[in-house]
Amino acid sequence: MSTDQQWDIVSGIGITALAVAAARAVETSRPDPLIQDPYAARFVEEARPPVPLPTTAAEAEATGVQHYWSDTSTYIAVRTGAFDDFFQDAAAAGITQAVVLASGLDARAFRLQWPTGTVVHEIDQPLVLDFKLRVLREQGAAASCEHRPVGVDLRDDWATALEAAGFDRARPTAWLAEGLLPYLPPEAEEGLFQEIHRLSAPGSRFAVETFGNTWAAARGKEAVQGSVRTLGVDITELIHTDERTKPADRLADLGWQTRSVPAEETAAAHGRPLSEEFAKREAVHVFARLP
Ligand SMILES: C[S@@+](CC[C@H](N)C(=O)[O-])C[C@H]1O[C@@H](n2cnc3c(N)ncnc32)[C@H](O)[C@@H]1O
Repeated sequence: MSTDQQWDIVSGIGITALAVAAARAVETSRPDPLIQDPYAARFVEEARPPVPLPTTAAEAEATGVQHYWSDTSTYIAVRTGAFDDFFQDAAAAGITQAVVLASGLDARAFRLQWPTGTVVHEIDQPLVLDFKLRVLREQGAAASCEHRPVGVDLRDDWATALEAAGFDRARPTAWLAEGLLPYLPPEAEEGLFQEIHRLSAPGSRFAVETFGNTWAAARGKEAVQGSVRTLGVDITELIHTDERTKPADRLADLGWQTRSVPAEETAAAHGRPLSEEFAKREAVHVFARLP
């Protein structure tokens, strides 16, 4: 695991956000996309990563690791759709404050229609957020929410930075941790759940992506070599593989009501089953509510 405190969009953990954007761009280019992200391709083009990443299904086919992009774009589309629905359900229930943790190049603040008065905070590394905002600005993107980027490390005192940016702990909040937990050291993950609980007014909601298996454990050496060929980084150096309390159990202990949905089920329900190899990662999307 890198101990760098900061990274940008083409280095360290930052490049994983670019890979997710590439997957969303590839999905968006399909004739029958599960989700549409009009900003994803531009992020990839503007970042100029050391190893070129595809922005269309045709480019993905030409990469030589077509199965990687096919599996990944299907899964990313399934999870993006599931968490889009999470925010839209929360908005329909009257929640007007959201926090996207480790937002990377997630463009939900700009893609989704938010009810008037909604505030969306996004936490990530400052250089990642700066890049995202520059590219969005250049495209004339406008958010229907009040968008508040908070550039802070989630291993530091992010809660103080969030409150300094105007987060209101008296208002129910919809929180999201998507594509984050494997990158956090155990003590930072533990702190994350405690802080979210401390900052959550009754009625708050929290969606979390969890994996039963890391990429490498599920797919072996070939996956690691694939990650180097695909992203130019060895993904196993970025993630933590120690045993941890399951997020659903942590939240239940804190008094949240949880519902765990295997990503495989969501994918099958959309007629886009996950590949057998990808299913071995045991992705589960946890949806929690604080009474
Ligand atoms: C795989 S990307 C996911 C991005 C986004 N949630 C999405 O799904 O498109 C991981 C993100 O986590 C962020 N991240 C990981 N550890 C972090 C930390 N300690 N502090 C702030 N951001 C972090 C990275 O910068 C990166 O943007």
